[in-house]
Amino acid sequence: MRMNDYRKISKFDIKLNTETVFHLIDCYQDSPIYHEVMEEYKELEKEVCQLIEPVAFIKFGTLPVELTAKTITGGAPVVYVLMTIGNKITELGGKYFNQGDYLSGMLVNAMSDDYMFQMDDIIQEIVKGECATRHLGITVRLDAPENIPMSAQKIILDEIKVLEELKMDVTEGFMFTTVKTMGYILVLTEDENTYHAQLNCDICKVVNCKMRKTSMVQVTLIGRGDPILFGCSDKESLLEAMIRQNIYVSAVCGGKGTCGKCKIQILKGDLDITSSDRVIFSEKEIENGYRLSCKAYPKTDCTIKLAAGDEIDFEVVSEYQQDSTKKIDVSEEGYVIGIDIGTTTIAVNLIGTTSRSIIQTYTTINKQRAYGADVITRMQASNDGKNEILRECIRKDLLEGIQNVVEGAKIPKDKIQKIAIAGNTTMGHLLLGFSCETLGVYPFIPVNIGTIELPLEEVLGVDYLSIPTILLPGISAYVGGDIVAGLLTCDFDKLEAPCLLIDLGTNGEMALGNRNKILVSSTAAGPAFEGGNITCGVGSIAGAICNINLEENKISYQTIGQKAPVGICGTGVIEFTSELVKAGLVDETGRLDEKYFENGFEITKDDVGNAIKFTQKDIREIQLAKAAVRAGIETLILRYGIAYEEIDTVYLAGGFGYKINIEKAIRIGLVPKVFFEKIRAIGNSSLGGAVKYLLDRQASMKIDQILKVSSEINLSYDKDFNNLYIEHMFFEE
Ligand code: FES
Repeated sequence: MRMNDYRKISKFDIKLNTETVFHLIDCYQDSPIYHEVMEEYKELEKEVCQLIEPVAFIKFGTLPVELTAKTITGGAPVVYVLMTIGNKITELGGKYFNQGDYLSGMLVNAMSDDYMFQMDDIIQEIVKGECATRHLGITVRLDAPENIPMSAQKIILDEIKVLEELKMDVTEGFMFTTVKTMGYILVLTEDENTYHAQLNCDICKVVNCKMRKTSMVQVTLIGRGDPILFGCSDKESLLEAMIRQNIYVSAVCGGKGTCGKCKIQILKGDLDITSSDRVIFSEKEIENGYRLSCKAYPKTDCTIKLAAGDEIDFEVVSEYQQDSTKKIDVSEEGYVIGIDIGTTTIAVNLIGTTSRSIIQTYTTINKQRAYGADVITRMQASNDGKNEILRECIRKDLLEGIQNVVEGAKIPKDKIQKIAIAGNTTMGHLLLGFSCETLGVYPFIPVNIGTIELPLEEVLGVDYLSIPTILLPGISAYVGGDIVAGLLTCDFDKLEAPCLLIDLGTNGEMALGNRNKILVSSTAAGPAFEGGNITCGVGSIAGAICNINLEENKISYQTIGQKAPVGICGTGVIEFTSELVKAGLVDETGRLDEKYFENGFEITKDDVGNAIKFTQKDIREIQLAKAAVRAGIETLILRYGIAYEEIDTVYLAGGFGYKINIEKAIRIGLVPKVFFEKIRAIGNSSLGGAVKYLLDRQASMKIDQILKVSSEINLSYDKDFNNLYIEHMFFEE
């Protein structure tokens, strides 16, 4: 470090701005207490100015790898900025509050904030000067938690502490212990005409900040426990504002305005009707205030309600075939944690290494779903500048899961030895902050699909546990570690007779083979099997219609958790399609009976009286999804060069495969009829594989064997696949 790369500034010529201070406490000239407050202000002014101990540090350096984002890579040149006005001023404010003198307490606080903001303006000018002498500019300012994790505050402090004796530290939640302190990172560029060092008010999470330079309206969300109050800036949609506030909303299409899953109902206030609203909603629904939150930009304060089912209680399958799942009452020598990161859900198992049994399980929805239901939409979101947000999302979910199993089991943290994670290639990329730019376009090149071992703190970006964390390897951009884990679960490394593994999710991944040769493939089934792209489709949430029978035009159904119906989930969609085919209400080509062609088949009404219906468009979605899976299976069999009869077992993996009614799936042609006796639903084989990796000493060798004999069939350009796809669009009965 050259000395001119570092500056300490402790002299600031700052005069408090009375107008700003009064604005910060919402006191204006027409206020009845204005003069009283002014007197108090004048009395405090001198004391405050004496107690403020301003000091700021500027340090040129490089960005650490753990803060890598899409457009900013580790090692990028940056400026670290840390500024504080010391502890005395906070103590003064605290003293007044303790004495019950809230006016003085608030004034001290507002005066400190005004000072800090003015200090920041001065520092920015100094940094600008420093940059000018180096012929550099600034591309972006990184503030925690807006666009970098809170842990960055420790990094900033450590950078300065190397050179300065500072009494300050950070708390467990990475807050500075000297309260009135500000730290941020400025990313440098060689383009000296670019200078974006200002705090970006659009992404700031402090809704009521009086210093905000963009306008915000107040939104009240009801229907999820206590009302939630948040701000929505004029540059963001309601969906974006809710995501920013960590309010989970399903957004299957990633905000394109086509899936309808992000719908809200406006109860107070006004929202323009957009062209997307007109496509998704009926006149009556629009009249009743239904809008798409991804297309809604409120101009005035409003009260809204989420109109789709709450996916937080998503039913997640964490069961899998494993000999060691019996809970045995022994004292455990140690523990390991297996994790499956699915595109839709996440499952975590804490395993005792002595009993080799499951001690604790945690499941949750993958909150990245708010950025799209399938891997393609997630990749697009990542490529559109949301890589870091998506990374934070999954890191948070994993940390929550790990903390939940560890704290739930009440075990000492130092007894946890290792973590293994299985997930598809996109999930792995997003977790590690890799760019997805080459994943989604031909020739579909992943950044890294080998076995990756990192300390957990590097994977999660927080210091919770320091243990090795292994990301299971994948085979290609679309056949990832989850399938490799599934192959390990099903012992493909030992098989003599060929078996077929099918993982039915948003991507239908499949593998056919034995220990000598495995062909793998994946086919874009789309989100229909998970209720996405279906008019009244929902995930596997409480109230989702999961089983349906249609006898002589009479419908009977069951819902998850026996709750009032809220929509149809994937298994319900398959079952109802099958029932319609059986009843002759859908013909071979997929055309719905004339009676229902226009308005769909009404299954029932939800708890507010809206019809849950199944439409012609839904049948088309199912035709596309099932044809993709079936054509994939047939192409693999064709390329492998065997007959159906030679396949010993068909393993159906994934939550959807676990719950599906095989007979009905066969009726719509999802899998060949001859497989009926051979099918075994194996549940979450990805989680099973991650756990097996941790318990079986030979697992690593077994995976090597699987990888060695595996090769991928790319279906996108396969002529046979395309012909089979068209052929299997039809229904068999
Ligand atoms: S319609 Fe809004 S996220 Fe799909």
